[in-house]
Amino acid sequence: MRTHYCGHLRATDIGETVTLFGWVDRRRDHGGVIFVDLRDRTGVVQIVSDPERTPDSFNIANDLRNEYVVRIKGKVSQRPDESLNPKLPTGEVEIYADEIELLNAVRKQLPFQVSTAEPESVREELRLRYRYLDLRRERMAQNLQVRHAIIKAIRRFLEDEEHFTEVETPILTRSTPEGARDFLLPSRVNPGEWFALPQSPQLFKQLLMVAGVDRYYQIARCFRDEDLRADRQPEFTQLDMEMSFLSQEEILDLNERLVCHVFKMVKGIDLPRPFPQLTYAEAMDRYGCDKPDTRYGLELVNVSDLVADSGFKVFSGAVKSGGLVKVLPIPGGNDVISNVRIKPGGDLFKVAAEAGAKGLAYIRVRENNAIDTIGAIKDNLSEEQMQELLERTEAQPGTLLLFGAGPSDIVNATLDRVRQAIAKEMSLIPADKLNLLWVTDFPMFEWNADEKRLEALHHPFTAPRPDEVDDIKTARAQAYDLVLNGYEIGGGSLRIYQPDIQKEVFAAIGLSNEEAQEKFGFLLEAFEYGTPPHGGIAYGLDRLVMLMAGEESIRDAIAFPKTQQARCLLMSAPSTVDKKQLKELHVASTYQPKPKETDQ
Ligand code: AMO
Repeated sequence: MRTHYCGHLRATDIGETVTLFGWVDRRRDHGGVIFVDLRDRTGVVQIVSDPERTPDSFNIANDLRNEYVVRIKGKVSQRPDESLNPKLPTGEVEIYADEIELLNAVRKQLPFQVSTAEPESVREELRLRYRYLDLRRERMAQNLQVRHAIIKAIRRFLEDEEHFTEVETPILTRSTPEGARDFLLPSRVNPGEWFALPQSPQLFKQLLMVAGVDRYYQIARCFRDEDLRADRQPEFTQLDMEMSFLSQEEILDLNERLVCHVFKMVKGIDLPRPFPQLTYAEAMDRYGCDKPDTRYGLELVNVSDLVADSGFKVFSGAVKSGGLVKVLPIPGGNDVISNVRIKPGGDLFKVAAEAGAKGLAYIRVRENNAIDTIGAIKDNLSEEQMQELLERTEAQPGTLLLFGAGPSDIVNATLDRVRQAIAKEMSLIPADKLNLLWVTDFPMFEWNADEKRLEALHHPFTAPRPDEVDDIKTARAQAYDLVLNGYEIGGGSLRIYQPDIQKEVFAAIGLSNEEAQEKFGFLLEAFEYGTPPHGGIAYGLDRLVMLMAGEESIRDAIAFPKTQQARCLLMSAPSTVDKKQLKELHVASTYQPKPKETDQ
């Protein structure tokens, strides 16, 4: 019987006989004395065996190799002074192994070293292929624990303090319009028909409010077939919540208390409240993005009005065609950012070009406020305009001003990316800061240029502000996102609960009456039967875990994630299936592998 976990042993246990189970993290032979670091999920402890003190275990200890699985029985002793290890929680003690039982050996060469003593240089592909070994490693084992602690804290708060009920919603369902592509599943018993995996439980949770559940939550699996990034997975987990009869203010208040509770329980951190709030318009204006990282400055300055009539066509033309001219002022930027980097071929030029910009005009402010800039700016701005520009951007000697000019979405996206790249490069991001921020008052819709129609910015169930409901197409939404250090960790809204407004929103996004009935008739019908005012939010749980565990990739927050190519390397999924299975499902593949792909 196990008496203790390895990582829990302390000086207070000295003298006790303990039985431990675990893996050999490392084995060292010091002149006939064998030292084994024994590891379980709580950490490692040092085991010792030598022919004199522990003759019964010595031969087995001698044969142990990394990752062998063993049972060890022995007495906890004080380590001699010269081998105390203050870096290890168990560093004061060691165990002389009276018995070692080999429970299982490693029969193949390990694809990589699991031991925490080894440097972390394993390729991610290999880590994902052998994820069960990767998860043995301290860093990943800790991440799993952080994830567990976060979910536990969430459950305790929502259930015990706020009386939420967890309700499971279906995985086999109909497509919900969250904006991504659906994963589809053919129905065998209903030939020709398809289930969609839920992009979120949005409609079910709203129907639960109609059902009188009042306060719902779920740790919900969601599926979105979209292009992957470092903070996105095709299959991810939300903390999903919905509440009846609460105002936006009350919902934000409850959620702030939830987030504070989680940080306190998991990290022992007291977050200051209330969290700051920015409107969408202000966030776009000052940062060029709706999830700004506010841990550092580098705020954008709109100078469109100032340069609208200038002779520099790039500026005046941008403003005349409804776009913007904005400046990213970089104090001290002159020394760090050379012209080569801003001009075509340069790394910052590339960052800008990826966001759609044609280039980055600049002004450098030298000592004594001497100006150094591209000719087009120098020749076309008056003395007064230049002066005003320097004042508005608070430029000092050493400041570099980078300009974005053009359609507002491109200007904002460009300067946002450049701002982030420069903050990283100039080490302007304080590592320990946690900046939570609500972004509110999103527009209801944005223009989808490809499809030439309005599209719901959040989703089409988001309620417009009551004071703007008369012109729904330009109305702002009662929607809010929660941003942590530049990551959108959650988003939600008050919902439409009146059928006529819901129909209006469907019409605004280009759904005909028939289409709306066909897709969402069940919702419109439910709204006829006494629907309470309600609202909710969903958090990207994996993102929250990633940030709280100090990771930069969402894959390190998930036990068995997919790669950037949406594959599970461990199980080799997706995979081909039997022709028979396809036949039963009434499905035939039209895929023709390209010759090149078959060669690979
Ligand atoms: P939304 O689409 O904003 O809202 O999703 C909520 C949160 O889920 C996280 N998230 C993701 N995390 C990992 N991988 C992905 N592919 C991914 N997509 C989204 C983000 C995001 O903030 N039904 C609404 C919520 C509501 O209105 O209550 C919804 O799903 O952190």
